[in-house]
Amino acid sequence: MLHEIAQLDPDMIRTLFDTGGDYRRAMSGGDYRDNFHTDLKRARETGPVHAGSVEEVLGTPATALHPTPAYTRPQPEPVFSVFGFDTVNTVFRDPETFTSDALRGTFDTFGRNILGMGGSEHARYRAIAQPSFARNMTQWWIDRWIADITDTLLHRIEGRGRADLNLEFCALLPLLTITSSFGVRMDEALRLRVLIEQMISGIEPREVKLAASAAAGEILLPVIADRRANPRDDLISKLIQQTIRDEDGTEFRLTDEEVLGYARLLLTAGSGTTWRQLGITLWALLNHPDQLEAVRRDRSLVRPAIEESLRWEVTDPTFFRTAARDTNLGGVHIPAGSRVSLCLTAANHDPSRWTEPERFDIFRRVRPHLSFAGGPHVCLGMHVARAEMSVALNAILDRLPDLHWDPEARRPVLLGLHMRGPNELPVMFG
Ligand code: HEM
Repeated sequence: MLHEIAQLDPDMIRTLFDTGGDYRRAMSGGDYRDNFHTDLKRARETGPVHAGSVEEVLGTPATALHPTPAYTRPQPEPVFSVFGFDTVNTVFRDPETFTSDALRGTFDTFGRNILGMGGSEHARYRAIAQPSFARNMTQWWIDRWIADITDTLLHRIEGRGRADLNLEFCALLPLLTITSSFGVRMDEALRLRVLIEQMISGIEPREVKLAASAAAGEILLPVIADRRANPRDDLISKLIQQTIRDEDGTEFRLTDEEVLGYARLLLTAGSGTTWRQLGITLWALLNHPDQLEAVRRDRSLVRPAIEESLRWEVTDPTFFRTAARDTNLGGVHIPAGSRVSLCLTAANHDPSRWTEPERFDIFRRVRPHLSFAGGPHVCLGMHVARAEMSVALNAILDRLPDLHWDPEARRPVLLGLHMRGPNELPVMFG
C-alpha cells in the first residue's frame, strides 16, 4: 500500500482538496469565515424560522452549491430557513410533511439513490446498505481499511517533523477508505474524486455532470462484473449480494444501474464530509492546546472531542426538505411546495440545550446533536465516519508527539458557508 499511496499525484491532491481555491469559494461561500457563528446567533435570536434562504437571512451572496431560487428560476417557490434545535429536529422526524423531494432533483445525475427517496421505497433501498454500516460493523471497516490506510499515511509523515495534515492525511483517509471498499484501485481514486466534484458541482453544465457520472460508471462497472462472479469481503460485494423484498413480497437484488446509483452517493458522501470534519476536529484541538493535551493523556476523551467538533462546527451546515402540505413551523406558516433549509450549525448552538454554545469544550456533557441529521435519512455512514476520526486521532496522538501549529506557516482558518473546513493544517511535531 505504501508504494501505491506514494504514487498519488501531490499536485492533483492539492487542487482537489484546496478549500481556499476559487472553485470552492464559488461553490460553498468560501469567503465566509469568523463571523459565521455570530451571524447564525443573530438569526436564531430573532426566531427559529425565517422567510428566505440561509444566504438571504445572513445577508451573504448566493452560493453555487445552494443558490437561492431567485438565482435559478424566474418564479421561485417560497423558501424558509430553520435555526432552532427543536424546529430542525421536528422537520427531520416528520418526513410525511417535509419530504426529501428537493434532494431527488439535486442528485439526479447520480442515478437512483436513497437521498431523495421517501416512505417505503426509501426504507427498502436503505435496507440494502444498512447492515454494512451498522454499529457492529465498525470493526470490520477498521480491520479491512481504516487501520492500514491510517498507518501508511502516518508512516510517510512521521520522522519529517512537519506536515500539512489537511492534504497529507485528512483528505486521503476517507477517500481511500470508501474507494477501497468499492474495489477501486488507488491509482483511480483521485480521478474518481475529480468526477465526484464534477457531479455535485453547482457550476458545471448538466452535460459535464452527466459525463462525469458516466465516467464514474466506467470505473465501477468492471468491478461490479468481477464481484458478481467472484464476491469478496468488501462493500461492493455486499451491495450486490444483499436481497430485499419488494412491496408485493418478491425478493430482488440491485441491478448494475442501481448499484451505480448507490456507489455514486456513497463515494460522494463518504469522501468529502469526513475529510473536512477530521480537519475541523484537529483545527479546534490545535487551537486549544490544553484540550489537545488532555485528549493525548486520556484517550477516553477522543470520542467526546469528536462529538464536540461535530456539534460545534459541522462541515455540512445546511440540508433541505420540501413541504408536502401547508403547515406551521415555529409559529410561521409554510405553504405547500416551499423549500425548507435546515441550519444544523444554528440548531447545534441552541442555548436552550447547550450553555455558551459558541465555546469549543470537549468536557461539556455530550448531548445528541443534529450533525448526522435524524429520522429515516439519518446519516448512513455515521459509525464509519466516527471510526475514521477516532482511529485517526488516536494514531496522530501516538505517532506525532508534541503536535502544534507550525510557527513559520500562516495560521489556518475555517472557510465556507457550506462544506466548511480548514484551508490547511500546517503542523510540527517532535
Ligand atoms: C462527519 C462526516 C459526515 C457527516 C457530518 C454526515 C452528515 C450527513 C447528514 C446530515 C445526512 C442527512 C441528509 C438528509 O437528511 O437529507 C447524511 C446522510 C447520508 N450520509 Fe452522511 N455524513 C458524514 C459521513 C458519511 C460517510 C462516511 C458516509 C458513507 C461512507 C455517509 C453516507 C451517507 C448516506 C448514504 C446518506 C443518505 C442517507 C439516506 O438518505 O437515507 N456519510 N449524512
